Amino acid sequence: LTDGPLKGRHVIVTSGPTHEPIDPVRYIANRSSGAQGSAIAEALVRLGARVTFVTGPASVPPPAGVELRLVETATQMKDVVEAALPADAAIFAAAVADWRVEGASNAKIKKTATGDVPTLALTENPDILATVSQRAEGRPKLVIGFAAETNDVVENATAKRARKGCDWIVANDVSPETGIMGGTENAVTLIDADGAEVWPRASKSEVAKRLAERIAEALGPA
Ligand code: C5P
Repeated sequence: LTDGPLKGRHVIVTSGPTHEPIDPVRYIANRSSGAQGSAIAEALVRLGARVTFVTGPASVPPPAGVELRLVETATQMKDVVEAALPADAAIFAAAVADWRVEGASNAKIKKTATGDVPTLALTENPDILATVSQRAEGRPKLVIGFAAETNDVVENATAKRARKGCDWIVANDVSPETGIMGGTENAVTLIDADGAEVWPRASKSEVAKRLAERIAEALGPA
Protein backbone atom coordinates (compact mmCIF):
# COMPACT_ATOMS: atom_id res chain seq x y z
CA LEU A 1 0.00 0.00 0.00
CA THR A 2 2.52 2.61 1.12
CA ASP A 3 6.23 2.66 1.43
CA GLY A 4 7.53 2.85 4.95
CA PRO A 5 9.54 1.12 7.64
CA LEU A 6 6.90 -1.62 8.00
CA LYS A 7 6.73 -2.46 4.30
CA GLY A 8 6.72 -6.24 3.91
CA ARG A 9 5.57 -6.80 7.48
CA HIS A 10 2.31 -8.46 8.50
CA VAL A 11 0.73 -7.24 11.74
CA ILE A 12 -2.44 -8.56 13.40
CA VAL A 13 -4.47 -6.10 15.50
CA THR A 14 -7.46 -7.09 17.64
CA SER A 15 -9.88 -4.36 18.64
CA GLY A 16 -13.27 -3.52 20.08
CA PRO A 17 -15.43 -5.40 22.55
CA THR A 18 -16.75 -8.90 22.07
CA HIS A 19 -20.44 -9.79 22.30
CA GLU A 20 -21.26 -13.00 24.07
CA PRO A 21 -24.77 -14.26 23.27
CA ILE A 22 -27.35 -15.12 25.92
CA ASP A 23 -29.90 -16.06 23.27
CA PRO A 24 -30.40 -14.97 19.62
CA VAL A 25 -31.42 -11.42 20.62
CA ARG A 26 -29.44 -10.73 23.79
CA TYR A 27 -25.77 -10.55 24.63
CA ILE A 28 -23.22 -9.56 27.26
CA ALA A 29 -20.83 -6.81 26.16
CA ASN A 30 -18.52 -4.10 27.52
CA ARG A 31 -17.89 -0.40 26.96
CA SER A 32 -14.83 -0.64 24.70
CA SER A 33 -15.22 1.75 21.74
CA GLY A 34 -12.44 0.28 19.63
CA ALA A 35 -10.92 3.75 19.23
CA GLN A 36 -7.39 2.88 20.34
CA GLY A 37 -7.30 -0.34 18.30
CA SER A 38 -8.51 1.42 15.16
CA ALA A 39 -5.94 4.17 15.62
CA ILE A 40 -3.15 1.61 15.99
CA ALA A 41 -4.19 -0.25 12.86
CA GLU A 42 -4.32 3.03 10.95
CA ALA A 43 -0.85 4.07 12.15
CA LEU A 44 0.59 0.69 11.13
CA VAL A 45 -0.95 0.97 7.65
CA ARG A 46 0.61 4.43 7.32
CA LEU A 47 4.03 2.93 8.03
CA GLY A 48 3.50 0.41 5.24
CA ALA A 49 2.43 -2.72 7.15
CA ARG A 50 -0.09 -5.24 5.89
CA VAL A 51 -2.61 -5.21 8.74
CA THR A 52 -5.17 -7.89 9.56
CA PHE A 53 -7.70 -6.04 11.70
CA VAL A 54 -9.81 -8.41 13.79
CA THR A 55 -12.58 -6.47 15.44
CA GLY A 56 -15.63 -7.11 17.57
CA PRO A 57 -18.67 -4.82 17.27
CA ALA A 58 -16.92 -1.47 17.82
CA SER A 59 -18.52 1.97 17.90
CA VAL A 60 -15.87 3.59 15.71
CA PRO A 61 -15.39 2.62 12.06
CA PRO A 62 -12.41 0.47 11.04
CA PRO A 63 -9.57 2.31 9.28
CA ALA A 64 -9.10 2.17 5.52
CA GLY A 65 -6.49 -0.10 4.03
CA VAL A 66 -6.71 -3.01 6.48
CA GLU A 67 -7.75 -6.60 5.87
CA LEU A 68 -10.95 -6.47 7.88
CA ARG A 69 -12.20 -9.48 9.85
CA LEU A 70 -15.46 -8.85 11.69
CA VAL A 71 -16.21 -11.09 14.66
CA GLU A 72 -18.71 -11.16 17.52
CA THR A 73 -17.43 -13.49 20.21
CA ALA A 74 -14.10 -14.22 21.89
CA THR A 75 -14.11 -17.73 20.47
CA GLN A 76 -14.52 -16.39 16.94
CA MET A 77 -11.81 -13.80 17.56
CA LYS A 78 -9.36 -16.50 18.63
CA ASP A 79 -10.10 -18.64 15.57
CA VAL A 80 -9.72 -15.69 13.19
CA VAL A 81 -6.47 -14.53 14.82
CA GLU A 82 -4.97 -18.01 14.61
CA ALA A 83 -6.06 -18.34 10.98
CA ALA A 84 -4.34 -15.01 10.21
CA LEU A 85 -0.94 -16.25 11.44
CA PRO A 86 1.93 -16.10 10.61
CA ALA A 87 2.57 -12.47 11.49
CA ASP A 88 5.61 -10.42 12.39
CA ALA A 89 3.77 -8.71 15.23
CA ALA A 90 0.41 -9.00 16.96
CA ILE A 91 -1.25 -6.30 19.02
CA PHE A 92 -4.12 -7.26 21.29
CA ALA A 93 -6.13 -4.11 21.87
CA ALA A 94 -9.51 -5.84 22.06
CA ALA A 95 -11.52 -5.82 25.28
CA VAL A 96 -12.28 -9.52 25.13
CA ALA A 97 -15.05 -10.73 27.42
CA ASP A 98 -13.60 -12.86 30.19
CA TRP A 99 -16.68 -15.07 30.24
CA ARG A 100 -19.37 -16.35 27.91
CA VAL A 101 -22.74 -17.79 28.71
CA GLU A 102 -22.57 -21.53 29.02
CA GLY A 103 -25.19 -23.22 26.87
CA ALA A 104 -26.54 -20.03 25.28
CA SER A 105 -30.12 -20.60 24.16
CA ASN A 106 -30.91 -21.13 20.46
CA ALA A 107 -34.36 -19.61 20.98
CA LYS A 108 -35.35 -16.34 22.63
CA ILE A 109 -35.78 -16.86 26.36
CA LYS A 110 -39.37 -15.98 27.34
CA LYS A 111 -40.73 -14.39 30.48
CA THR A 112 -42.83 -16.82 32.45
CA ALA A 113 -46.27 -16.18 33.96
CA THR A 114 -44.90 -17.25 37.33
CA GLY A 115 -42.14 -14.63 37.29
CA ASP A 116 -39.28 -17.13 37.36
CA VAL A 117 -36.05 -15.46 36.24
CA PRO A 118 -33.39 -17.27 34.24
CA THR A 119 -29.99 -17.96 35.74
CA LEU A 120 -26.94 -17.45 33.54
CA ALA A 121 -24.07 -19.87 34.02
CA LEU A 122 -20.78 -18.42 32.79
CA THR A 123 -17.72 -20.18 31.50
CA GLU A 124 -14.26 -18.74 30.91
CA ASN A 125 -13.27 -17.56 27.44
CA PRO A 126 -9.92 -18.49 25.91
CA ASP A 127 -7.18 -15.92 26.53
CA ILE A 128 -6.14 -15.04 22.99
CA LEU A 129 -3.12 -12.96 23.99
CA ALA A 130 -1.74 -15.70 26.26
CA THR A 131 -2.42 -18.41 23.68
CA VAL A 132 -0.55 -16.57 20.92
CA SER A 133 2.26 -15.47 23.28
CA GLN A 134 2.87 -19.03 24.40
CA ARG A 135 2.77 -20.72 20.99
CA ALA A 136 5.65 -23.13 20.54
CA GLU A 137 5.65 -22.59 16.78
CA GLY A 138 4.69 -19.63 14.70
CA ARG A 139 4.77 -17.09 17.49
CA PRO A 140 4.98 -13.55 16.12
CA LYS A 141 8.34 -11.97 16.92
CA LEU A 142 6.63 -9.18 18.81
CA VAL A 143 3.47 -9.80 20.86
CA ILE A 144 1.89 -6.79 22.54
CA GLY A 145 -0.93 -6.80 25.07
CA PHE A 146 -2.92 -4.09 26.79
CA ALA A 147 -3.66 -3.73 30.45
CA ALA A 148 -6.54 -1.55 31.53
CA GLU A 149 -6.12 -0.99 35.23
CA THR A 150 -7.68 1.27 37.81
CA ASN A 151 -4.91 1.01 40.44
CA ASP A 152 -1.25 -0.02 40.80
CA VAL A 153 -0.95 0.25 37.03
CA VAL A 154 2.75 -0.57 36.61
CA GLU A 155 2.77 -3.34 39.19
CA ASN A 156 -0.33 -5.04 37.80
CA ALA A 157 0.77 -4.63 34.20
CA THR A 158 4.26 -5.98 34.88
CA ALA A 159 2.74 -9.07 36.49
CA LYS A 160 0.36 -9.40 33.54
CA ARG A 161 3.26 -9.29 31.07
CA ALA A 162 4.95 -12.19 32.87
CA ARG A 163 1.75 -14.19 33.27
CA LYS A 164 0.68 -13.90 29.64
CA GLY A 165 4.16 -14.25 28.15
CA CYS A 166 3.93 -11.27 25.81
CA ASP A 167 6.83 -8.96 24.95
CA TRP A 168 5.28 -5.59 25.73
CA ILE A 169 2.30 -4.40 27.70
CA VAL A 170 0.67 -1.08 26.98
CA ALA A 171 -0.81 -0.18 30.33
CA ASN A 172 -3.37 2.51 30.98
CA ASP A 173 -5.35 3.87 33.85
CA VAL A 174 -9.04 3.54 33.06
CA SER A 175 -10.34 5.02 36.30
CA PRO A 176 -13.55 6.93 35.50
CA GLU A 177 -11.97 10.29 36.41
CA THR A 178 -9.34 9.89 33.65
CA GLY A 179 -12.03 9.98 30.94
CA ILE A 180 -9.89 7.58 28.91
CA MET A 181 -12.36 4.75 28.36
CA GLY A 182 -14.56 5.96 25.50
CA GLY A 183 -12.62 9.23 25.28
CA THR A 184 -10.26 10.60 22.62
CA GLU A 185 -7.09 10.70 24.73
CA ASN A 186 -4.91 8.09 26.35
CA ALA A 187 -2.08 8.09 28.87
CA VAL A 188 -0.07 4.90 28.69
CA THR A 189 2.95 3.27 30.21
CA LEU A 190 4.92 0.90 27.98
CA ILE A 191 6.24 -2.10 29.83
CA ASP A 192 8.92 -4.29 28.29
CA ALA A 193 11.72 -6.54 29.55
CA ASP A 194 13.70 -3.47 30.66
CA GLY A 195 11.00 -1.85 32.74
CA ALA A 196 8.34 0.83 32.49
CA GLU A 197 8.28 3.95 30.32
CA VAL A 198 5.63 6.56 31.03
CA TRP A 199 4.30 8.30 27.91
CA PRO A 200 2.69 11.72 28.14
CA ARG A 201 -1.08 11.95 27.82
CA ALA A 202 -1.93 12.45 24.15
CA SER A 203 -4.65 11.76 21.60
CA LYS A 204 -5.26 8.08 20.88
CA SER A 205 -3.91 8.68 17.36
CA GLU A 206 -0.68 10.19 18.74
CA VAL A 207 -0.25 7.22 21.07
CA ALA A 208 -0.91 4.89 18.13
CA LYS A 209 1.66 6.66 15.95
CA ARG A 210 4.30 6.43 18.64
CA LEU A 211 3.54 2.74 19.23
CA ALA A 212 3.68 1.97 15.50
CA GLU A 213 7.05 3.74 15.24
CA ARG A 214 8.33 1.77 18.22
CA ILE A 215 7.18 -1.47 16.58
CA ALA A 216 8.96 -0.55 13.33
CA GLU A 217 12.13 0.14 15.31
CA ALA A 218 11.91 -3.19 17.15
CA LEU A 219 11.28 -5.24 14.01
CA GLY A 220 13.86 -3.47 11.87
CA PRO A 221 13.77 -3.63 8.08
CA ALA A 222 11.98 -6.65 6.55
O1 C5P B 1 -6.25 -10.17 31.57
P1 C5P B 1 -6.72 -8.96 30.88
O2 C5P B 1 -8.07 -9.10 30.21
O3 C5P B 1 -6.62 -7.70 31.68
O4 C5P B 1 -5.66 -8.77 29.70
C1 C5P B 1 -5.79 -7.78 28.75
C2 C5P B 1 -5.03 -8.15 27.52
O5 C5P B 1 -5.27 -9.50 27.15
C3 C5P B 1 -5.45 -7.33 26.33
O6 C5P B 1 -4.34 -7.19 25.46
C4 C5P B 1 -6.55 -8.19 25.71
O7 C5P B 1 -6.73 -7.90 24.35
C5 C5P B 1 -6.00 -9.58 25.93
N1 C5P B 1 -7.02 -10.62 26.12
C6 C5P B 1 -7.21 -11.59 25.15
N2 C5P B 1 -8.13 -12.60 25.35
C7 C5P B 1 -8.86 -12.64 26.48
C8 C5P B 1 -8.68 -11.65 27.47
C9 C5P B 1 -7.77 -10.66 27.26
O8 C5P B 1 -6.54 -11.54 24.09
N3 C5P B 1 -9.75 -13.60 26.64
